Amino acid sequence: MRKTIVVTLIVLMLSAMALTACGGGASDGPVIGDAAKGEELYNRATLGSKSSEGCVACHNYDETQGDETDAPFTAGTATKAEGRVPGLSAEEYILESIVNPDAYVVEGYNAGDMYQSWGEDLSEQEMADIIAYLLTLK
Ligand code: HEC
Repeated sequence: MRKTIVVTLIVLMLSAMALTACGGGASDGPVIGDAAKGEELYNRATLGSKSSEGCVACHNYDETQGDETDAPFTAGTATKAEGRVPGLSAEEYILESIVNPDAYVVEGYNAGDMYQSWGEDLSEQEMADIIAYLLTLK
């Protein structure tokens, strides 16, 4: 239950940030994702405050890098995320997939397959950067 609340809060926060980013005039600096930085973070061997195995330990970019045995391909994440879960935008789905991976488990995988603690291990900025990167992958 607590996790759900935290996720909801983060989603609300991100929506607020997106609105502020569009509307401008924020006084205390909204967190704006930097896709280039996110790509660099995504491809690190280890990541986060606990130096856990990074995203690419499990996710291959596409078939030129390997298969989807450990995790879905990274390529096309934004497109796949659109409409995965009714009511969630691509951005909200990607966020949920990272902070609460078991909320929706991609067909062919099991709950618990993805590392569960990114929500605590990544800073707000790192999370925003990684999401910005994944949103460019149509
Ligand atoms: C230990 C292996 C592992 C690591 C490390 C990992 N993932 Fe995953 N990831 C998975 C698996 C397995 C799935 C599919 C099952 C599910 O939905 O949870 C998945 C699903 C996803 C999805 C949803 C994909 C879709 O097609 O719907 C996203 C987005 C994602 N991961 C992002 C990340 C990001 C970003 C990182 C690094 C911060 C990361 N993952 C690290 C294993 C991993």
